[in-house]
Amino acid sequence: MLCVNVNPLFKGFTFLDLSLLFSYKLLNFLCIERQKKKIIFLEKQTKQQLMAGADQEAVRNKQVTLKHYVSGFPKESDMSVVTSSISLKIPQGSKDTVLLKNIYLSCDPYMRGRMSKSDIPSFVAPFQPGSPLNGYGVAKVVNSTHPNYEKGDLVWGFTGWEEYSLVTSPELLIKIQHTDVPLSYYTGILGMPGMTAYAGFYEVCSPKKGEHVYVSAASGAVGQLVGQFAKLVGCYVVGSAGSKEKVDLLTSKFGFDGAFNYKEEPDLDAALKRYFPEGIDIYYENVGGKMLDAVLLNMRLRGRIAVCGMISQYNLEKPEGVHNLMQVVGKRIRMEGFLAGDYYHLYSKYLDMILPFIKEGKMKYLEDVAEGIESAPAALVGLFSGKNVGKQLVVVDGK
Ligand SMILES: NC(=O)c1ccc[n+]([C@@H]2O[C@H](COP(=O)([O-])OP(=O)(O)OC[C@H]3O[C@@H](n4cnc5c(N)ncnc54)[C@H](OP(=O)(O)O)[C@@H]3O)[C@@H](O)[C@H]2O)c1
Repeated sequence: MLCVNVNPLFKGFTFLDLSLLFSYKLLNFLCIERQKKKIIFLEKQTKQQLMAGADQEAVRNKQVTLKHYVSGFPKESDMSVVTSSISLKIPQGSKDTVLLKNIYLSCDPYMRGRMSKSDIPSFVAPFQPGSPLNGYGVAKVVNSTHPNYEKGDLVWGFTGWEEYSLVTSPELLIKIQHTDVPLSYYTGILGMPGMTAYAGFYEVCSPKKGEHVYVSAASGAVGQLVGQFAKLVGCYVVGSAGSKEKVDLLTSKFGFDGAFNYKEEPDLDAALKRYFPEGIDIYYENVGGKMLDAVLLNMRLRGRIAVCGMISQYNLEKPEGVHNLMQVVGKRIRMEGFLAGDYYHLYSKYLDMILPFIKEGKMKYLEDVAEGIESAPAALVGLFSGKNVGKQLVVVDGK
């Protein structure tokens, strides 16, 4: 038998005995260590659970998230409505942060671009799959560590597509000072679409009394305002829209001089010649594609085109070409793209103009209201098939 001459304590032990003994000791040591770690982990977990339970201010937070990047026409199923929770306390140490309870969410066509990831640089970042969408909305401040905002303030601006949002960059929020008008108007006439219509028409187009104005997507959030602004200046204005109901609204509610359904016009050039036998001075461009081509043929000398958007192109894999661009040269047309954000410094000037008009009933604003955050994906997708009649918005807490 092989004996190992080691510590007298282990005298008489074989090598095998000793190895077994040490293995056992080692195992035992490891087990005890693991157990200790497990106890520490369990204690920590219990503490966290107790703390969560003690946070009486944690509330449900339904959110609309993007499932995956989209190609072609967006579908409701590209988004999910998920339920999570949020603490109504602002995390310790978070400076200049506000916690918002969202009241209205704005559905805007530019959000389509954010549902895809493209190599072409954009003015706005894509959404993150698995995260809530974000965009314009109206909200109430429920908590704040920012010196400019306090509990109870109403704001409009950038927020999440969810019931509550923790906003760490409140510089994208504007405090609402006028509450004697419908609060939902801050998603439309008193918010981004209002500034878009105002800046695009007055600043980009420099309209003059008697000029001939054409507006596409004319019954929407922006278009209905451009038509009314044109009338305020004393212009002749015609709009196009995609249904009989919308076309009727343009003349009966918003005061356009003429209107047509572009879907029922096989020859857009001929349709424009019918309404503008002497040509167009100002085109407020919302749709692009074939409409832009037809408009170019009908522009007058020194005409202006405010390129606000091109919704007909947003879901195409490959944008359509424009064939009549040479008209820009001969007619000395000025075509200018713009973003509402470039003109927010004019917001208080715009309010001074628009608020009295709203209160006196001189400006009309039509809204299409979807009830409940669950209806937000359908409402957003509906913009691209013309389901909305007027400004599409969502009431977060539906009926
Ligand atoms: N530059 C900026 O800062 C800025 C800001 C806001 C909006 N925009 C742009 O302004 C335009 C209007 O926006 P909005 O918020 O007022 O939207 P909106 O007009 O309220 O809603 C979108 C409308 O576009 C029309 N449409 C959809 N697909 C179309 C297609 N393939 N061809 C022609 N028309 C189509 C539909 O009306 P019909 O039923 O009449 O077809 C639909 O109701 C969009 O191009 C948007 O991107 C730009």
